[in-house]
Amino acid sequence: MDESASAEYAKLVAAAREARQHAYCPYSGVAVGAAVLTRSGEVFTGCNVENTTLGLTVCAERNAISAAVRAGMRPGELAALVVVGGDDEPLTPCGACRQVLAEFAANECPAICATPTGRIRAFTLGELLPHQFKR
Ligand code: THU
Repeated sequence: MDESASAEYAKLVAAAREARQHAYCPYSGVAVGAAVLTRSGEVFTGCNVENTTLGLTVCAERNAISAAVRAGMRPGELAALVVVGGDDEPLTPCGACRQVLAEFAANECPAICATPTGRIRAFTLGELLPHQFKR
């Protein structure tokens, strides 16, 4: 990764960490933050929002994607995702979020997973969701 790319990722990790501070997670206690970078260079963030019904919980990644779509992001325009959560090991996006990411990102899209203390695992979307459903 060249220097400007790693500076860009550091900015995304910082944005996801900040979003995680706002997680509403009274039922699980699992706070998650996410940041998406669009091809036009904009950054959008989200945190998980839980609900007493549990099933209505929305993950940080999907909230970040919704914010980006609201600002005009369309399929193929999601350039990178960072998610911050987990304890010793970085949390990785759930299956539902992987499919939602696939709606907007190419298989090569980096998905960087970091713990709040900075442990990082880097994937591509294609690694996280191979043989995805596409129409
Ligand atoms: N969660 C996320 O926000 N993103 C994921 O990819 C996995 C799980 C949230 C949902 C719920 O609020 C909590 O983590 C525990 O599952």
